[in-house]
Amino acid sequence: METHKQLTIGLFGFGVVGEGLYKVLKQTPSLKASIKKVCIKHPDKKRDAPASLFTTQKEDILQDPEINVVVEVIDDANAAFQIVSTALLNGKAVVSASKKMIAEHLPELLSLQQETGQSFLYESSACASIPVIRNLEEYYDNDLLHSIRAIVNGSTNFILTKMFEDKLDFQSALLLAQQLGFAESNPKLDVEGYDAVNKWTILLNHAYGIVSHPDEILFTGIQQVQLSDALVAKEKHWDIKLIAQAKKLNNGQVAAFVLPQFVKHDEPLSFVKNEYNGVVIESGFADKQFFYGKGAGSFPTASAVLSDIAALRYNYKYEYKKLYHHKPHDLTNDYYLKVYVSFDDWSYIPREEFEWIEEWHAEAERKYLIGVLHYSKLAGQNWWKENNTSLILTTDPIIDNLDIIKLKKKSLELAGIA
Ligand code: HSE
Repeated sequence: METHKQLTIGLFGFGVVGEGLYKVLKQTPSLKASIKKVCIKHPDKKRDAPASLFTTQKEDILQDPEINVVVEVIDDANAAFQIVSTALLNGKAVVSASKKMIAEHLPELLSLQQETGQSFLYESSACASIPVIRNLEEYYDNDLLHSIRAIVNGSTNFILTKMFEDKLDFQSALLLAQQLGFAESNPKLDVEGYDAVNKWTILLNHAYGIVSHPDEILFTGIQQVQLSDALVAKEKHWDIKLIAQAKKLNNGQVAAFVLPQFVKHDEPLSFVKNEYNGVVIESGFADKQFFYGKGAGSFPTASAVLSDIAALRYNYKYEYKKLYHHKPHDLTNDYYLKVYVSFDDWSYIPREEFEWIEEWHAEAERKYLIGVLHYSKLAGQNWWKENNTSLILTTDPIIDNLDIIKLKKKSLELAGIA
């Protein structure tokens, strides 16, 4: 029988995830993995671990030949990239939870893995406890992967649940998410969608072989969503969720974005509450599959880090099959979206930019419309994020170019115009 490799770990970071990992590892002696050193920034902070474990010198880990695994769970994306690159170049396997760093440095990290042949695993960087990266990597052939829709940020899902189901105000809900260790240290990253788009950039690579940068993907967070939007949703038996979506269009290119979206009550993602995440994958022949689990928090995130560490015992590596072994897909900006927009005044809304508007309510103080526009009327434009305007995608928002003429005609007929 092949014996598993002994893993000697150097850990960077002892915050929510780092400390969680330390505790989880102590309860998993069968793993044959031990932490030799932990590198931290502030030595004076009180920590629940022997003082001899800690250092402030990164070389104590990066230059120690006995340490064969570097686990990096720090907050600073630039420092994290330096640590990860040096560790890989020094012949160490690396496990990371730094989604921002990974999303912003995908091309360099891919090259570093090819150059060094080392394992670089980061399951915890997207959807924390849900093993979505390894599933996309190993199980789904990209020819068969039609679409993925997911809730990838625990804090915003927690805030939306607390606001609209438990009637908490936004600030109290955010504070609670911070106290429970779900939010980023700069919670703007959660609330305004940056964390979700970082995770989506990572997942698009494993799903479709797309190597992109978060800047290339249309996104926003929940900062504009209003109570009046939740009331409209309730009337129509919908929820509001921050949804990351990717769909293969008829021409084989992929539409991808992260935006608030209405979700029907009988859809799996509607059951995803609080800090939980969920992923719905639609693939040829299998139809829909649903992954569900905790998307934030100390132990759920540490559990994914632990699983990566365990995989290193048999030298597991991502093969990036969709990128290297298949024809990778391209992102496209050429499609239409059906949106709900609520606003205070018509003058803020570029009505002429819509292909058609099929519902509008202009009497109340808070007005809204439902209409269809081209992707380019949102990307690079700010009207839908300014002047207290709120945009939410409808339940089935993507319209392929090939369908637009047919649907426009039908809609105008229904409105009695054509
Ligand atoms: N702030 C992140 C979230 C933590 O709320 O999802 C997990 O990545």
